[in-house]
Amino acid sequence: MVRRYELSDAQWARIADLLPGKPAVGAGRSAPARSPRPRSTFRIFGFDPATTQPSYATFMERIHPEDRPSSEQALERAARERSRFQRQYRIVLPDGSVKHLQSVGQPDITASGDLEFVGTVMDITERRRAEEALRNAQAELARVARLTTMGELVASITHEIKQPLTAVVANADTGLRWLNRDKPELDRARNAFSRIASNGKRAGEVIRGLRALAKKSGPQLAKLDINDAIQEVLALTRSELQRHGVVLHTALSAADRPVFGDRVQLQQVLLNLIMNGVEAMSAITDCPKVLAITSEAVEPGGVLVAVEDTGPGLDPATADRIFDPFFTTKSDGMGMGLSICRSIIDAHGGHLSVSPRVPCGTVFRFTVPGVPSS
Ligand SMILES: Nc1ncnc2c1ncn2[C@@H]1O[C@H](COP(=O)(O)OP(=O)(O)O)[C@@H](O)[C@H]1O
Ligand SMILES: [Mg+2]
Repeated sequence: MVRRYELSDAQWARIADLLPGKPAVGAGRSAPARSPRPRSTFRIFGFDPATTQPSYATFMERIHPEDRPSSEQALERAARERSRFQRQYRIVLPDGSVKHLQSVGQPDITASGDLEFVGTVMDITERRRAEEALRNAQAELARVARLTTMGELVASITHEIKQPLTAVVANADTGLRWLNRDKPELDRARNAFSRIASNGKRAGEVIRGLRALAKKSGPQLAKLDINDAIQEVLALTRSELQRHGVVLHTALSAADRPVFGDRVQLQQVLLNLIMNGVEAMSAITDCPKVLAITSEAVEPGGVLVAVEDTGPGLDPATADRIFDPFFTTKSDGMGMGLSICRSIIDAHGGHLSVSPRVPCGTVFRFTVPGVPSS
């Protein structure tokens, strides 16, 4: 997926200002040998500034074959229309490694009448990797959310199996109709029956796939930094918090205190508690919506994590049932969140509890033991 960035004039100017030794002169087309290209651009493209004076063509050769035609077109259009351009593209270095670059630039006519491109080339490979890692984490979290939220699992099984089964029934009816004619239409009946077979196979594959998915989800216990796990969940929920006008406070002080657990499951607990907090505060209009997440080391050797909201607090009439499976006070609630949280924390040998927050709201706290010494 290629994301397109549209920069405003002001943003563009700011980027240009950030350049070391700006303005950097990029690949000049009509005067390649003369263009004083910046050393940093040389290095990004893998040329040694001391020995190489690469031409426009040599620069172009470094561009990934899939990105080359569009890069050439963009440069040509910018030159023709004297317009700014910005592009993300890949280059392939002589050792075969691929870098993601972002170029912003504009054509310029020099005093001697030559065409040059003035702009910046940024190496955004690390950013791309981070984006990819985030996407993977997101997908993993989504997979686990699907699995642990029983209702959603049931819904997805129902949908995936219902479709082929509906087709099986429909084709069986059709097949029988062709056979029951005064003069049976055997070819048409045969087609209907082969559709029955393929839909039956498809339903079987869905079930096999679900079984594989469930197997892969077995807990994977490892040493982990709870603050990293919290930060990852916050990265995923940040826009959701913003959308609901919730202010986030964090005080993560359990650094240097590794815990022993299943990262994805613990993140599922955090995600459930955060979403419950956000949902609890959704009706609040008269005071600030604040979600606070804290972590601290506790003895012997574990961490304590708290998720606090400034919502209306628990309803005393039902407070003792919130951890029960399928207990919910929400019209669209599943009531599985807290019961899953509690079983995950129990399985880790920790403890999950709830108490009212003063002056308003609710605090959920859980502990996770540290790494066993043996
Ligand atoms: N932060 C909170 N503030 C107030 N009530 C809460 C909070 N978290 C959970 N609850 C109560 O506990 C119930 C069960 O929560 P949960 O197990 O997550 O199921 P669901 O969110 O689907 O209703 C909620 O319906 C709500 O009544
Ligand atoms: Mg919930």
